[in-house]
Amino acid sequence: MKICVIGTGYVGLVSGVCFSELGNEVVCVDKITSKVQLLNKGEIPIYEPGLKHLLAKNKERGNLRFTTDLPDAVRSSDIIIIAVGTPSQPSGQANLSYIEQAAKEIGQSLNGFKIIVTKSTVPVGTNEKIQAIIEANSRYVFEVASVPEFLREGTAVQDTLQPDRIIIGTTGEKAKKMLVELHSPLTDKIMVTDIRSAEMIKYASNAFLATKISFINEIANICEKVGADVTQVASGMGYDKRIGSSFLKAGIGYGGSCFPKDTQALIQIAGQMDYNFKLLKSVVEVNRDQRFNIIHKLEAVMNLSGKTIAVWGLAFKPETDDIRESPAIEIIQDLLNKNARVKVYDPIAAENFKQTFSLDVEYSNSAIECAQDADALCILTEWKEFQDISPKTIHSCLRYPVLIDGRNLYSEVEISETDLIYYSVGRPNMNKGQREQKPLLSF
Ligand code: UDX
Repeated sequence: MKICVIGTGYVGLVSGVCFSELGNEVVCVDKITSKVQLLNKGEIPIYEPGLKHLLAKNKERGNLRFTTDLPDAVRSSDIIIIAVGTPSQPSGQANLSYIEQAAKEIGQSLNGFKIIVTKSTVPVGTNEKIQAIIEANSRYVFEVASVPEFLREGTAVQDTLQPDRIIIGTTGEKAKKMLVELHSPLTDKIMVTDIRSAEMIKYASNAFLATKISFINEIANICEKVGADVTQVASGMGYDKRIGSSFLKAGIGYGGSCFPKDTQALIQIAGQMDYNFKLLKSVVEVNRDQRFNIIHKLEAVMNLSGKTIAVWGLAFKPETDDIRESPAIEIIQDLLNKNARVKVYDPIAAENFKQTFSLDVEYSNSAIECAQDADALCILTEWKEFQDISPKTIHSCLRYPVLIDGRNLYSEVEISETDLIYYSVGRPNMNKGQREQKPLLSF
């Protein structure tokens, strides 16, 4: 099939590359010339395992190209996929201006029957608006569909090529037939639904996953008080098929480009319909508070003013250079507000962080260099590289042996072999010093 993808952000680029991998003829469009030039050279503007290889392979085969010429790309394709950004406005509402602009340009470029698919996450009813905009700008017949994307950064290629399910929201008979055919090499779990339900499935899925995370984080906070272990609690819960074990990892809360934006947007959508989504509002509030528990734990053992705090991990999760809404941002800001000196290290995301925030932090070239002579180390992202460094090594680097593990990287056995003052999330106290006597609190 001939496919045009508009927008080469995470969703657009990964979708375009993966559809070309399936043997389709794909053209990806972006307004930013430098980005298109980069992609045409076989380079990718994001860090995403496996993507660069597939892009190069399919460019070489001749079934993937990149252009700034939207009208030409639309005219030469049968299926047009809209994958432009829908960033949050200050109110939490999704900004649909890129979508509306894309719809207008598509309408002006149509030269025959096409199927217009929206992959961007959009509020319920948006596909109907897209339909109206295209109709106002074109005399050709077309059908619209909502096919929401569920890929995760870091595993985006795998998620796209082996999805749990495909949701196709459309009432168009041709759209249904062609989109089922397009996606059937990926999975047999294809659900065809009406457009509004498809739009809602995306928001409801992300809101539910965010709810699981905030739920387990609150359970973790209670575990700390009652002396239970949240990792065991989550395992025990996860065996129940009705609950499932995924997305029950306690930590410092969720970040990224989707959960924070989509939860806020769903609260707004509900509000506009005079519905107060109390549960989701609490999920967001719990998530905001959770990150500051790192600071509370540090402050339980030291006065932060004048101390050197090492931070491992800036990305909102491992295997990505994405720092959007990363809990690390506010944690570091708070440390600086409390007059701590902050050293940071991230295997991939440091450059992004440096370019985005002009924060007064020191960037280290390695995890060890970062921890060296610090008064405490905070782990904020569970990079494998960190897990491979033993607590003994960490202990030997630090000036004062405080380790705050926001991702529960280490086991009780590993920690018990050291004299670290160790705090993790929702697990019983593992501190040797604390088991035997009170830790040094007057530092
Ligand atoms: C998410 C959805 O998973 C995906 O379906 C959607 O298309 C986009 O949003 P992504 O943001 O890439 O994907 O990452 P994800 O792996 O879902 O993690 C999101 C955040 O939740 C991260 O900050 C992660 O650290 C956190 N998380 C995840 C937890 O704290 N605990 C968990 O158990 C799982």
